[in-house]
Amino acid sequence: MEQYVMKGGTPLCGEVEISGAKNAALAILAASIMTDEPVIIDNLPDVRDINVLIEAMETIGVVIERLDLHKVKINAGCITSVLVDYDYIKKIRASYYLLGALLGKYRKANVALPGGCDIGARPIDLHIKGFRALKAVVDIENGMVVSSAEKLEGTHIYMDKVSVGATINVMMAAALAEGKTIIENAAREPHVVDVANFLNSMGAGIRGAGTDVIRITGVEKLHGTEYSIIPDQIEAGTFMFAAAVTGGDVTVKNVIPKHLEAISAKLIEVGCRVHEYDDAVRVIAGEKLTHTQVTTLPYPGFPTDMQPQMTVVLGLAEGTSTVTESIFENRFKYVNELVRMGGQVKVEGNIAIINGVSGYTGAQISAPDLRAGAALVLAGLSAEGITTVDDIKYIQRGYEHFEEKLRGIGASIEKVDSEKEARKFILQVS
Ligand code: UD1
Repeated sequence: MEQYVMKGGTPLCGEVEISGAKNAALAILAASIMTDEPVIIDNLPDVRDINVLIEAMETIGVVIERLDLHKVKINAGCITSVLVDYDYIKKIRASYYLLGALLGKYRKANVALPGGCDIGARPIDLHIKGFRALKAVVDIENGMVVSSAEKLEGTHIYMDKVSVGATINVMMAAALAEGKTIIENAAREPHVVDVANFLNSMGAGIRGAGTDVIRITGVEKLHGTEYSIIPDQIEAGTFMFAAAVTGGDVTVKNVIPKHLEAISAKLIEVGCRVHEYDDAVRVIAGEKLTHTQVTTLPYPGFPTDMQPQMTVVLGLAEGTSTVTESIFENRFKYVNELVRMGGQVKVEGNIAIINGVSGYTGAQISAPDLRAGAALVLAGLSAEGITTVDDIKYIQRGYEHFEEKLRGIGASIEKVDSEKEARKFILQVS
């Protein structure tokens, strides 16, 4: 079983290139099947979730040609099935985007109910409610979402809760519905905007993405396009926090600084310096970190996907900090692992109360999910001694070449596949 093994204590310094946004790429890949013409997508991150979705798309007859590591050509002119089974959905929750895409194009889609990272109950009632508002018939049968529509009709939809997935899924189906759809209380995340831009480049009529009201004028058909995905806000934020937690100085390149404002603001609050350039951000760690309060919120608030990384930083900040998780109810599973590394954190309901310590100590720990896994790696890189992180399959779902990028800014970290390899690394670094 693959693990990361690392020796902490080195300030991370240098430059790191950020990859394409995983969460935008997942939706854009799914949306690419909405035309029979070829679509070229560039700046795809080379991560497990993307590669699994590509496989899922191939099983329904989509032809996908790899032009290079980050670029694919997609031809969905010969889809043979509108059924996506549980084998894929359990590996990658976002394959539910094929529901909106298939329903829009073929008026029919059968997709298994999703699994995904275990960070709390993750219903898809809002997706289903949106499809039904467009006049689709949607039922749950034997673990599948079975949907069909004689015709999809534009309508006025109010989202009861801000949901990235539901906003994107309904936006996709509505792009090929008859008439106008208005989505109110829409999610405003950068990847919602990226998916809208992608669909518009295929001929869709979507206005207002990035605000909480999205207006869609349905079109009959979409056409081929060539599109490059935006940089990953969360990967960028993770490397920014890597600088903060190790006392380093890191420039993250190929980013959109506007997408990082909530993250930068918190770094400045805890005593780091942040310099913004056109497409890069430099973070210089403060001599000491100070406590603060953070609450996760939909964009432009502080992202829930940066919550574990924030706790790891605040674990080393003087005084008492709090981190309130307002999006998912089960997102503090990493706290026990951080405590094993010497962190002083306790969780009460949806609030983590953190008493800063002067340093973490290396330990053998496990990644409970994608973002928490990355956060624990940051803790290990700042810790005294050796840390091994198990279950790195979660981290590989969403971070492209994580250990290589970390090594590029001075981290002493290796991916190992056996006890023997781990011992060899430890001998080398001690
Ligand atoms: C997406 C991101 C994920 C991120 C999350 C919040 C992808 C592939 N994943 O997940 O990394 O953490 O946004 O920024 O883009 N909800 C409902 N009913 C629904 C849908 C959602 O009650 O039908 C609730 C969820 O339980 C959660 C909240 O709405 O409490 C937000 O979830 P949502 O924005 O939909 O998250 P995802 O799209 O699943």
